Amino acid sequence: MPKISSIKDLQEAAKEKLSKGTYEYYTYGAQDMLTTSENCAAFDRIQIRPRVLRDVSKMDTRVKLFGRTLDSPIFVAATALQRLAHADGEVGAARAARRRNVVYSLSTFSTSSIEEVAKESRNANLWFQVSFFKDKNLTLSLIERAERAGFAAIIVTVDMPYSGRRLPDIRNPLTVPPHLSFSNFEPVSQSKHTDQEEDEWIGHHVVNGVEANLSWDSVTWLKRHTRLPLLTKGILTPEDARLAVAAGVDGIIVSNHGGRQLDSVSATIESLADVVDAVQGKIPVLFDGGVRRGTDVFKAMALGATAVFVGRPNLYGLAYNGEAGVNLALDILNEEFTLAMALSGCPSLKDINRTYVQHALAPLS
Ligand code: FNR
Repeated sequence: MPKISSIKDLQEAAKEKLSKGTYEYYTYGAQDMLTTSENCAAFDRIQIRPRVLRDVSKMDTRVKLFGRTLDSPIFVAATALQRLAHADGEVGAARAARRRNVVYSLSTFSTSSIEEVAKESRNANLWFQVSFFKDKNLTLSLIERAERAGFAAIIVTVDMPYSGRRLPDIRNPLTVPPHLSFSNFEPVSQSKHTDQEEDEWIGHHVVNGVEANLSWDSVTWLKRHTRLPLLTKGILTPEDARLAVAAGVDGIIVSNHGGRQLDSVSATIESLADVVDAVQGKIPVLFDGGVRRGTDVFKAMALGATAVFVGRPNLYGLAYNGEAGVNLALDILNEEFTLAMALSGCPSLKDINRTYVQHALAPLS
């Protein structure tokens, strides 16, 4: 394998290391994957309008969010089951994010618990992704545990009242090997007696436990129950963005779940500017979906994102070489992004704005 020099290389290396089932679980999206493909393809239809003869001898990629300064706006997205990729799993990925002083978001459906990740990646910038469960006390207990463990923000996923229709999963349902589990559910289930009862309890909550009867009142309710900043993840329209602001959330993440929920929705980069306009600077708008290159990050920042998350690149890094592989993924993206800023004449994030991008005048073949 030649030296890995891009996220594309990393994906190919990961494909060789992972079982077919795990690779497909990580990579595939819903139905025909129109949206998953579009998330990446739509970036290619945007061109950068660089400015020249600027002082780019010193570059500054720092971003301030909720009172903390992060060294880069490239964060790690919440993705389930990271120890399927490599034994380092969530802890390794959180440490890689800590090394770069960026946010690591932990999925509710992680294979290392809230407490373990916090302990093993002390001083990392951790955010916790929570889902609405039918059992409200379960939702609240997860948030309380994240608060107690020192997490700095809560992300509530709002685009998943049901799981999307992922065909590989339907044909060949993913099974979690016996040495792994949805670790956040274990302490609550300790009162159960047999392993089988335990598995059924966890399965019940994970697979069938997510609430489908939701409204903006659910978000207001959650906001009342946490002292941490609350972000809603999965917003795609200005209408919902305005409702999010009205509900009092502290941030929005423009996301279509990496194309894993409803197939045929727009690419996130196509939806970003409208959401940013609707929010009118009242709260930060963050972004995920299809980011695979530094120029993608630059385009999202130009269209108004405060920061971006990467999902699959982190999983490919883990699969390739555990924590070191996530370091590599983040290093590649950050090097590419800083270079894109410099070659566009933008020494700091505040210099990047919409005048630096245009829709492609001609196809980029
Ligand atoms: C996800 N995503 C996700 N989101 C969430 O809120 N909770 C979760 O548990 C998961 N799990 C998950 C697993 C896998 C395998 C993937 C690929 C994605 C969605 C994730 O947070 C993010 O929105 C997308 O991954 C962003 O798209 P890219 O960067 O993967 O293109």
